[in-house]
Amino acid sequence: MANWFITGVSRGLGLALAEAVLDAGDSVIGTTRSGGTPETLRGRAIEIHALDMVDVDRTKEVVEKVFSEGTRVDFLVNNAGYGLLGSVESSTDAELEHLFDVDVFAPIRIVRTALPYLRAQGASHIVNITSVAGRAPGVGTALYASAKHALEGFSVALAAEVKHLGIGVTAIAPGQFRTDFLSTGSARFSATADDAYRLTVGAALDTLGKANHQQLGDPKAAARVILDTLKSDNPPLQLVLGSDALRRIRGRIKETLGELEAWEAVSIKTDYVQ
Ligand SMILES: NC(=O)c1ccc[n+]([C@@H]2O[C@H](COP(=O)([O-])OP(=O)(O)OC[C@H]3O[C@@H](n4cnc5c(N)ncnc54)[C@H](OP(=O)(O)O)[C@@H]3O)[C@@H](O)[C@H]2O)c1
Repeated sequence: MANWFITGVSRGLGLALAEAVLDAGDSVIGTTRSGGTPETLRGRAIEIHALDMVDVDRTKEVVEKVFSEGTRVDFLVNNAGYGLLGSVESSTDAELEHLFDVDVFAPIRIVRTALPYLRAQGASHIVNITSVAGRAPGVGTALYASAKHALEGFSVALAAEVKHLGIGVTAIAPGQFRTDFLSTGSARFSATADDAYRLTVGAALDTLGKANHQQLGDPKAAARVILDTLKSDNPPLQLVLGSDALRRIRGRIKETLGELEAWEAVSIKTDYVQ
């Protein structure tokens, strides 16, 4: 039986993952902002800690409390997060800081606090839920994309840093999943400024608004895939979830490679002549 630490189990992907983990006979230490236990998780092998990811002291306290009780964590999943959508020009410092606090700094703090305990355990797996926006960003998501790119980069470098300690790392980039993610209670929308962005950011936000609760991705299917993949012999460093995300990320990689090759002769001009 494995033990999972999962942030943001109140709803959405985190809740679906916690349910799947419990159904599989594993146990969960989950966090919710309110400290409440979602109805479908009550009476099961789950312990809930109240955690708002913007609370720096509390973040450290929760992680230390979990491990100080001698608990083993086999899978540590940074799931809690949200999207900030809108134009860069109209975003505020407060919006930007809040986004990075929740989507980047808190997951890094959680990992940093957990690492000494995970090292002592000998084997564990860290999972960061990123986004298709972190690998193939679309218009209107520049700030959210920058946060999720940060988490992707963090994951890739961290994996190389901790592999020899028996700690695995996987960054999981979901496409559009049918959760509350695009609802006003989750996503935050910076203004689209003026008419200058009507046809770009404005149009993209209209499309995203129409996709709310109609998304292609099934959170329960995602949860099963995450569970099975992480328990497989050799989990990937970067996993994509959803055919929409796969198409977009494949396209971005092809563009990146094409540009890299087209500009290769320029790129190599900066080396010292040997
Ligand atoms: N669904 C998608 O299409 C999609 C696509 C790509 C990536 N993702 C990523 O998947 C993860 C889960 O999102 P979701 O789709 O399940 O969205 P969701 O239904 O809106 O759930 C978001 C979860 O994050 C928690 N959360 C948000 N801000 C928090 C904060 N300040 N402190 C603590 N918890 C906080 C929420 O808690 P409360 O209930 O207290 O708000 C909730 O548990 C996020 O990291 C998101 O960026 C989702």
